[in-house]
Amino acid sequence: MTSDQTKKPWGGRFTAPTDEFVEQFTQSVSFDKRLAHYDIAGSIAHAKMLAKTKIISKKECDEILTCLKQIEEEVASDQFKWSASLEDVHMNIESALVERIGETGKKLHTARSRNDQVATDMRLYLRDEVDDTTLKINAVMAALLKLAEKHHDSIMPGMTHMQAAQPVTFGHHLLAWAEMLLRDRSRLQDCRQRINVLPLGSAALAGTTFPIDRNYVAKLLGFDEVAQNSLDAVSDRDFIVEFLASASLVMMHLSRFSEEIVLWMSEGNRFIDLDDAWCTGSSIMPQKKNPDIPELIRGKTGRVYGDLIALLTLMKAQPLAYNRDNQEDKESLFDAVDTLKMCLTAFAGLIPSITVNNKSMLDAAERGYTTATDLADYLVLQGVPFRDAHAVVGKAVQYASKKSKTLSALSLSELQQFSELIKDDVFAVLKLEGSVLARNHVGGTSPTQVKIQIARVKKKI
Ligand code: ARG
Repeated sequence: MTSDQTKKPWGGRFTAPTDEFVEQFTQSVSFDKRLAHYDIAGSIAHAKMLAKTKIISKKECDEILTCLKQIEEEVASDQFKWSASLEDVHMNIESALVERIGETGKKLHTARSRNDQVATDMRLYLRDEVDDTTLKINAVMAALLKLAEKHHDSIMPGMTHMQAAQPVTFGHHLLAWAEMLLRDRSRLQDCRQRINVLPLGSAALAGTTFPIDRNYVAKLLGFDEVAQNSLDAVSDRDFIVEFLASASLVMMHLSRFSEEIVLWMSEGNRFIDLDDAWCTGSSIMPQKKNPDIPELIRGKTGRVYGDLIALLTLMKAQPLAYNRDNQEDKESLFDAVDTLKMCLTAFAGLIPSITVNNKSMLDAAERGYTTATDLADYLVLQGVPFRDAHAVVGKAVQYASKKSKTLSALSLSELQQFSELIKDDVFAVLKLEGSVLARNHVGGTSPTQVKIQIARVKKKI
């Protein structure tokens, strides 16, 4: 079975019908119908411009708008009949228009090509998705702030090389993730500026002979600028690559955070627990409660990286101007948008499901000799050069470890074996609380700083 060639909007110069396989192979409507709302918005603006410049009459424009709005409603309520033989979202909608209002419908495509049309649709779509993603990032940050507020002074072992390093406040650790998300948000906003440029008016590749008003279309569709080169405008997909790069970074951050959640919940740490509603079990081991949500987010990160690589590869070595290759930009972008948004939604729900086991965190910080640097700093204040102080404390740690004791559990005389400069005021320094309180400067881990940073980030969301 093959479809009737005369029914295709581009069928004029063809005599033989399209091979059925070719029809299936070339169609994009099965996935680009998701752009219908934006395609119709673009067509409405285009029709209004055609009327304003008297390329079509006001009456014709009104007829087109009424019909497009009707089609929009049918699409929204899933009543619209999509047809693969009409290839893509653009030709499905245009054909419906022609079918319903005849000759007038055929005038909509004046001074326009599917090449500038699809580029416009993609930009309108992505602009909305960037705004939605921004809101979702804000929701994750709000959840982080709430937990950080509660734990502004809870102490945990800060890690380097996955070894206990120095005590930090849990609030400070959570705020590190908020900083990453702030950068992610700003990258998306930056990318939005380059998304928000109007390709329509470029037509197939060279512009059009009609007296169009591109600034008017830009204004109607909320674009900040009009693309300045028609060849570039129809072929440019940089804005998608940029979005996917930004999305990959968000996913990278979520994946790192997921990894920490998994580690914190693991048997060896038990720093946190997740609500039952946010975990799943094992079909064989009855005791299991697994952190599958962060694991899935970690896993889905690879998909989004893959989408980025797909687009970079799609555009590599592509000559000007439009090539059909570009139809392949859609599924990767849609997949990345859906995955990213779902993972952000998951995180906004996952964070409030965290309960903190303060004691496990504190014990781990204590076991890890995390105040050793504080002891070295104490000796420096007594006039010992830092390198010597470092060596002295190294010996003290070696001794304490042999005795299976923490540093603060050593007696004064035990400590004095390593330096006579150690006096009984040393114990304040060896305490975890003292250690975090002392780091009271911009960027430091003290509870006071955590509160200041919470207020700062709060103002930004
Ligand atoms: N479905 C096409 C795409 O997604 C629309 C543009 C088609 N243009 C063309 N000259 N065949 O890119």
